[in-house]
Amino acid sequence: MRINDKTVARLRELGAEVRQGVSMADQTSLGIGGTTDEILLARYESIPEAMRVLADEHIPHKFLGGGTNVLIADGELPWVMLHLPKATPGMRVDGNCAYVDASADLGGMVTFCAKHDLGGMEGLIGVPGSVGGALRMNAGAYGTQIGPHVKEVELYRAATGKIETLRGNEIRFDYRHTSFAPEDVMLRVKLELPSKPFKEILAGIKVCNEKRRSSQPLNQKSAGCIFKNPAGGSAGRMIDELGLKGHRVGDAMVSDRHANFFVNAGHATCSDMLKLIEDVRERVRAANGVELENEVIVWRN
Ligand code: EPU
Repeated sequence: MRINDKTVARLRELGAEVRQGVSMADQTSLGIGGTTDEILLARYESIPEAMRVLADEHIPHKFLGGGTNVLIADGELPWVMLHLPKATPGMRVDGNCAYVDASADLGGMVTFCAKHDLGGMEGLIGVPGSVGGALRMNAGAYGTQIGPHVKEVELYRAATGKIETLRGNEIRFDYRHTSFAPEDVMLRVKLELPSKPFKEILAGIKVCNEKRRSSQPLNQKSAGCIFKNPAGGSAGRMIDELGLKGHRVGDAMVSDRHANFFVNAGHATCSDMLKLIEDVRERVRAANGVELENEVIVWRN
């Protein structure tokens, strides 16, 4: 979607940078996605005004975090993409609390806290993406989830058009799901973490890295797990048991390493990936009577 000149000028007055015709395939870990104009915001404080500008001009928009858990439509996208200001480094520690910008890298946050002898998040070390994305999805791995560590979240609330702060106990963190409204934008988080010696944290991090390397296709383009695990089951095992590793639609392929990772093995399109997702969902439904739910976020046009 093209942003008209008048809107570009208004956004520039807010310090934002506007880039035209950007390919989302270059901004997502799947390497899939069409083109649109994007807006790089300069300051968190300018977000309410930037959102008013877009509303005035009836310009649909979405915020992109790390781009690691999203499948974006092909072709010209009917919305513009927004990016939070870059975190430089966007994190500090005070006692047992870490204050982190949503645009910071999740793994970077885990190691930063570790260097300050704050642990509890070792399991999240290899989860790619931004802190904001991890918050929204309540990212988790190896028994760790980000939610239980959250003391406060500063966010832009679409319902009020304002920047507000929520306490951790006002937010529900479930398995890969939170009570934030879809249009809310995570800005900063305050985490409370247990004290732990750096060396101990490092040992935990190494164990998680090893497990991940041995079971996941880390050197291929993917968005992590495609489906949530059904209650009491494993989506990866179910797909594997159906012999679907290597099964493909065009260049969208079920990883031959971990069957719940679908990879872009070349020039996969969103349409290929969606067909593969529906095909696998249907086969698992037929064989196991289980309806797998997407873990990956899909943005269709
Ligand atoms: N399995 C197979 N075949 C496969 C894949 C897995 O038989 O192709 C079996 C494994 O042997 C194991 C079981 O299925 O017995 C579970 O597999 P794994 O330990 O790899 O964990 P998972 O449930 O598939 C979850 C998360 C991952 C997270 C890992 C580690 C979900 C959907 N996935 O995977 O998160 O990294 O645990 O904690 O909850 C993600 O969110 O994108 C993601 C990858």
